[in-house]
Amino acid sequence: MNRPLGVTVSRYILDNQRLHPEATGELSSLLSELIVAAKTISAEVNMAGLADIIGLSGKVNVQGENVQKMDEFANNTIKKRMASCGYLCAMASEEDEDIIPVVDGYEGKYTLAFDPLDGSSNIDVNVSIGTIFSIHRRRTSLTMGQGAKEDLLQKGSEQVVAGYIIYGSSTMLVFTTGDGVHGFTLDPSVGEFFLSHPNLKIPARAKYFSINEGNSQYWDDSIKRYISYVKEIDEADGRPLSARYIGTLVSDFHRNLITGGIFLYPSDTKDAGKPSGKLRLLYEAAPFAMLIEQAGGRAITGDGRNILDIEPESLHQRVPLIIGSKHDVDTVENFLLEG
Ligand code: AHG
Ligand code: MN
Ligand code: MN
Repeated sequence: MNRPLGVTVSRYILDNQRLHPEATGELSSLLSELIVAAKTISAEVNMAGLADIIGLSGKVNVQGENVQKMDEFANNTIKKRMASCGYLCAMASEEDEDIIPVVDGYEGKYTLAFDPLDGSSNIDVNVSIGTIFSIHRRRTSLTMGQGAKEDLLQKGSEQVVAGYIIYGSSTMLVFTTGDGVHGFTLDPSVGEFFLSHPNLKIPARAKYFSINEGNSQYWDDSIKRYISYVKEIDEADGRPLSARYIGTLVSDFHRNLITGGIFLYPSDTKDAGKPSGKLRLLYEAAPFAMLIEQAGGRAITGDGRNILDIEPESLHQRVPLIIGSKHDVDTVENFLLEG
């Protein structure tokens, strides 16, 4: 569908719903609630430097990392708003060890997994951060009321919506319902997201490579060889690629989506070793994998699996992630296959 610019996200969602006569409107309402939470977080993020909210809260999350106050604020904002929206049966958050129940009497047919604030180490240095979300249809019957863990432990290929909000030089919402990837920019003066990037497609070839090179001594030889390869001079092949690494997955992904790029967080042997990489399947890798495939790119683990095909075993499961422009993910895959 050709949509004019200036379309609000609410209008876009309603138009989309009309294309699906079987839709009940619940998913649309669920998204609208989530967007309100996103706007609340965006306003708070913009105030972070002023409101003395920056800094450690003194708590540690389930990953053993320090929880910053903004993480807590974002987590509570999403939990409180979504628990009584009436469309969810359970939630999972990076900041909560167990599944999060919804308010009794408000159970619905979807689940929400989210990373309330991604890139939290960048909050107090004024570098962009984000929120990531993933929505599935519940597996258990609606008559069960509250959802169970199995409702959340579903493959990425079963997602009905995946997206993120980036709190950058402007706030943007980017999401897919399986009908392409669309980006909306928040006009803070009216508090509305407007369609600014319809039907985003990632360029087939990467301009940038994004990896934490500080970990290079801990990588497998094949990753070391691939990263040396992208730095070789071969102008006809578009190499060397340029390096960009923000350390906020949302922002690294967003830039690479727009300009063409490849992001890697492979398994490594740092500390006790990250045999499964660092990033989490349910609320980091899987939603980005759906987005990238919808935008014409690819997302793999590097050990022969597509991210979207992984059957999750636990809520906070980690997974190696190689994601971006198709040509470049194919190339990494060849390096890994050669061993
Ligand atoms: P979070 O702030 O939600 O814990 O996520 C941080 C993640 C991700 O955003 C980023 O890509 C990655 O950590 C960076 O890790 P390194 O600092 O190890 O490079
Ligand atoms: Mn994160
Ligand atoms: Mn986080």
